Amino acid sequence: MIFTVAIDGPAAAGKGTIARAVAKRFGFGHLDTGLLYRAVGAKGGDPVAAARGLGETDLARDDLRTLAAGQAASRVAVIPEVREALVAFQRSFARREGGAVLDGRDIGTVICPEAEVKLYVTASPEVRAHRRWLEVGGDEGEVLAEVKERDRRDAERAVAPLKPAVDAVVLDTSAMSVEAAVAAALAEVEACLGAG
Ligand code: CDP
Repeated sequence: MIFTVAIDGPAAAGKGTIARAVAKRFGFGHLDTGLLYRAVGAKGGDPVAAARGLGETDLARDDLRTLAAGQAASRVAVIPEVREALVAFQRSFARREGGAVLDGRDIGTVICPEAEVKLYVTASPEVRAHRRWLEVGGDEGEVLAEVKERDRRDAERAVAPLKPAVDAVVLDTSAMSVEAAVAAALAEVEACLGAG
């Protein structure tokens, strides 16, 4: 079975948690595409060469979740050649046998416009920053500034900007618990699988 769930949205919206839950529930493969950009940013040197030569060990680094790695990721993510170098891998993952969930910024718009389910997961910047702060600690104001700056850069870039696909289901989780957000996402996938 070929079945793709595309989960897009701004920084720290809870895409990863939802994606992991969907993958587990339905036995689909999961690809956190943000990790690819974080690994390219963290590698240093020429970002285009880094994207073209990206390997398993680059993705296994333990410093990819930091605020600095997020910033570096969004800076390299504006470079068209970097994005191009990562397209083929993401597309083939999306259409792998057995189902796939990909979370990122451009999955439903660019990587897999034919995805069977498209979710756009969002929440207010303050709520998202608070959630990220619970994970990374430090100064909450600094986390909020980082989240806002990255959102602006991701939404304003010329290539594959952050925006909901026209046919995406928008899930605003500002006032939702993690459990409720996951349940809403599972229900969308369930409905689509049932209809297919
Ligand atoms: O976990 P969080 O939502 O904070 O970030 P992420 O999904 O790990 O993405 C890090 C950065 O990579 C984003 O701010 C984007 O600039 C970039 N990215 C992208 O351009 N396209 C994607 N499909 C995924 C991430």
